[in-house]
Amino acid sequence: MTEVDLDVHHSDEDVTAALRADVRDGLTAAQKWLPPKWFYDAKGSELFEDITTLPEYYPTRSEREILAARAGEIARVTDARTLVELGSGSSEKTRLLLDALTSHGTLAAFVPLDVSASALAEATEAIAADYPGLEVRGVVGDFTQHLDLLPGAQPRLVAFLGGTIGNFLPIDRSKFLSSVRDVLEPGEWLLLGTDLVKDRETLERAYDDAAGVTADFNRNVLRVINERLGADFAVDEFVHESYWDAESEWIEMRLRASRETTVHIPGADLDVHFDEGEYVRTEISAKFRPDGIAAELAAAGFAVEQWWTDTEERYGVTLARSARA
Ligand code: AVJ
Repeated sequence: MTEVDLDVHHSDEDVTAALRADVRDGLTAAQKWLPPKWFYDAKGSELFEDITTLPEYYPTRSEREILAARAGEIARVTDARTLVELGSGSSEKTRLLLDALTSHGTLAAFVPLDVSASALAEATEAIAADYPGLEVRGVVGDFTQHLDLLPGAQPRLVAFLGGTIGNFLPIDRSKFLSSVRDVLEPGEWLLLGTDLVKDRETLERAYDDAAGVTADFNRNVLRVINERLGADFAVDEFVHESYWDAESEWIEMRLRASRETTVHIPGADLDVHFDEGEYVRTEISAKFRPDGIAAELAAAGFAVEQWWTDTEERYGVTLARSARA
């Protein structure tokens, strides 16, 4: 029997309270900022799916190329009985792993975890329908908070794909990797996707496409704040920017106020003043070097088993094993 389950660790009130706290923190800081997870309401999740098909946005294609070539090997090396996917979104690339693990014969359960209930519900239903006999247990939650709740027979393979690890600041990234390692038993697995450092032009265009989809995605965070907290952001008066910070080695997405304004955010009990030209940082997307990834994984208690890149060497996928109890 196919089983679809959605565990919700986030009530609607929890989500609003978390947004309120983030808005109060981020928009009262000297350099205004907002966490990128707030892009992903139903509309934002759809816009992100559109981004993955844009000519400028290579990471999805590069990662798919690697997984298509290596999924069989991943199945043989890991013998995974549970595939956990963090920040799964539509789980589209995950099918390459599900196919390989199913033919290999070890897979019993798929556990996608995502903040977007709508994206998760769609994905779990489609996957349950296409993989009869697989236990599909979606978890609606935040992968910085709900990692201890991951069910499933061992060995588990935790996939964190798409380069989403780049959304963390370096300090939070090391905490996150350690917390993943903490929930794994020695010998269980992490499959990590990372975008790689490259020239400014390629990177900035990947985050500022000609069709304007990324701009719309970026501004969606303001719509989310308007809807959830009753704010009055004039969304079209904020200009999308993508900026490669070569020193920190990350892309920043920004929303820049095209004129001076005061935004009222009753749901956060807050008024926020913007000077003309002042910007909010809405996302960092760090890019990596192979040595750096290996060092960060080792520091978190993982041993790198395999490292693969695509033919254009734009993107990397690392298979690592939890090395400590
Ligand atoms: C889903 C976090 C991997 O950082 O490339 C795409 C999000 N932002 N375009 C990324 C994103 C702008 C994406 N991740």
